[in-house]
Amino acid sequence: MKSSAFNSQGLTSNPQATVLAVDNLLYAYSQQEPVLREISFTLNAGERVALMGPTGSGKSTLLENIIGVKQPQKGEIWINGIPVEANTLPQVRRQIGFSFQDANDQLFMPTILEDITFGPRNYGVPPAIAIDKARQLLADFGLEAYANRSAHELSGGQRRLAALAAILALEPQILILDEPTNGLDPAWRRKLARVLLNLPAQAMLIASHDLHWLGKVTQRGLVLSGGYIQIDRNIQPLLRDADTLERLGLPIDW
Ligand SMILES: Nc1ncnc2c1ncn2[C@@H]1O[C@H](COP(=O)(O)OP(=O)(O)OP(=O)(O)O)[C@@H](O)[C@H]1O
Ligand SMILES: [Mg+2]
Repeated sequence: MKSSAFNSQGLTSNPQATVLAVDNLLYAYSQQEPVLREISFTLNAGERVALMGPTGSGKSTLLENIIGVKQPQKGEIWINGIPVEANTLPQVRRQIGFSFQDANDQLFMPTILEDITFGPRNYGVPPAIAIDKARQLLADFGLEAYANRSAHELSGGQRRLAALAAILALEPQILILDEPTNGLDPAWRRKLARVLLNLPAQAMLIASHDLHWLGKVTQRGLVLSGGYIQIDRNIQPLLRDADTLERLGLPIDW
């Protein structure tokens, strides 16, 4: 990935700084039992953290609370010391890059080039610079030939890559990714891992069922199950603990 739009300084590491704090979060969809009951954890600067948990355990719901798309009934969320609330959302969102589980929720412009330049242009980046950067990102993700196509004309994996390019174009400090490897072949899964490992972002929280891939990219794993964070542990010992994973609904070999 020579002459890439990604720079390769690695994560900023200032271990004292708390980048994200989630404190005693409770979230229920209307008229239903809470999906998230008492969720508390922090992410420090320099950390890449996996969010694991069975299908329907609430991973996407938790991430959507963190970025302020959903509002918890109880508890607080802080991003770099700023509480996530209606009036702080523009400020908070400026620091976060979030990819939805469904890439279609992210791509809405007539062409993917415009999808990728949309965010930077919104933040006042001159069009020529935004377009240069977008073309470099498209090249990095093997999509240069598709710049002028709409997302509907891409494959599922290509849409996923285009959505990630649109997020990285904003050079976010904090990356929050929901199932980023969905639809990607092994070569792209590896390439995406390398991209993420080389980003100068402050911290990452990545929800995925791709346990093997999480083991390559993250250092720490949270397991969400039954509305609680059941495990918060270094990723390698966690991935070796097949019994615990099995008990929490995450059989490692399947
Ligand atoms: N809009 C909604 N209204 C009501 N219930 C919902 C809604 N969205 C999700 N749920 C329920 O909330 C629970 C958590 O869903 P969520 O999408 O957060 O799980 P997840 O861990 O991300 O699952 P997956 O691994 O399939 O992505 C599920 O039981 C789901 O059925
Ligand atoms: Mg989900």
